[in-house]
Amino acid sequence: MRQYKLAIIKGDGIGPEIIDEAIKVLDAVSSHENFELSYSDFLMGGAAIDVFGEPLPEETVQGCLKADAILFGAIGGEKWDTLPREKRPETGLLNLRKALGVFANLRPVSVYDELVNASTLKPEVLKGVDMMVVRELTGGIYFGQPRAKEAERAYNTMVYTKEEIVRIAKVAFESAMKRRKQVCSVDKANVLEVSQLWRETVEEVAKEYPEVSLSHMYVDNAAMQMIRNPKQFDVVLTGNIFGDILSDEASMISGSIGLLPSASVGGQVGLFEPIHGSAPDITGQGIANPIATILSAAMMLRFALGEESAASRIEKAVQQVLKEGYRTKDLSAYEAKEVCSTSEIGSIIASYVAKV
Ligand code: NAD
Ligand code: IPM
Ligand code: MN
Repeated sequence: MRQYKLAIIKGDGIGPEIIDEAIKVLDAVSSHENFELSYSDFLMGGAAIDVFGEPLPEETVQGCLKADAILFGAIGGEKWDTLPREKRPETGLLNLRKALGVFANLRPVSVYDELVNASTLKPEVLKGVDMMVVRELTGGIYFGQPRAKEAERAYNTMVYTKEEIVRIAKVAFESAMKRRKQVCSVDKANVLEVSQLWRETVEEVAKEYPEVSLSHMYVDNAAMQMIRNPKQFDVVLTGNIFGDILSDEASMISGSIGLLPSASVGGQVGLFEPIHGSAPDITGQGIANPIATILSAAMMLRFALGEESAASRIEKAVQQVLKEGYRTKDLSAYEAKEVCSTSEIGSIIASYVAKV
């Protein structure tokens, strides 16, 4: 029997609610496939600040480094918003990504036919969208030095080295080779030197992938094109902050931010997390959509553990449950047969894992 050790970080806000459902589904899938999962909980973000006085305790880093993969919910909340930056929950997450070396964040965006009416956008614009946002995750303006907040002045630095651009570009081209062989690199090369180096470097990497067609787009245009005609995109390659913003925008193509998973890879251990945050406005109400986290668990099975059949079993179960009209509140206005709580939809997906 194959055995895997998972590090679990529930985090803050809806984090614990959505992770519990992902674990339910993982337990269901492992009982139908030939592997066993063991879980160890670690604290990060606000929950860690409350216990240890810091957002990323060393034991969390060490526990994560010893695991086969990490499943993470979300962090952050008003309670910790006034802390200095180094002490904030978000800094814990950024430091964990850096400590793991997970420089590539894969954020797939697709539209379930069943949810084509769930978006605020028109169905004909959405039907058939299938894109992969490849977001650089451990560099750019999030990490650049110098940075400071003074009384009358504050600054950050957007910096990329050639090496950082090469390695993320390779991830995007490799991904495109398995898909429709198109990469659209998104930057702001008309204004920023860092984007000029980005563009030149991506052009160089492209030479190693002659089958892939490469285009470039300024980020402001990309934000518009993503709503105007999202079907034009296959792989979207971009830096840390642009990828953060564009992927939240892209979530409305799928109908809810509660649907989009992600995989943070390229380092020692993979980190799997929904793209959304801790949703303080709905915490504790039992209405959070756990599907983004459940699909992140599927990405974990595929990318970190090589359990392809278990991963696709989860994805099929999610699709079937949506097809049959089970919806959490965020999607309830659209062809819902039954509006479910977080825990109900988790249980339904877990039960469908055996049927698909
Ligand atoms: P958010 O993603 O938490 O929420 C934005 C909106 O989407 C809210 O209305 C929320 O209710 C809704 N939403 C999010 N996830 C949902 C789900 N699964 N089901 C249904 N609705 C969902 O973003 P925000 O409000 O800007 O940030 C809240 C906190 O989360 C902040 O502290 C922020 O720093 C943090 N954050 C953390 C992460 C992370 O842990 N990876 C990501 C983004 C934001
Ligand atoms: C995300 C979040 C994080 C980011 C924050 C919480 C640091 O928005 O995972 O998308 O900006 O990367
Ligand atoms: Mn984000």
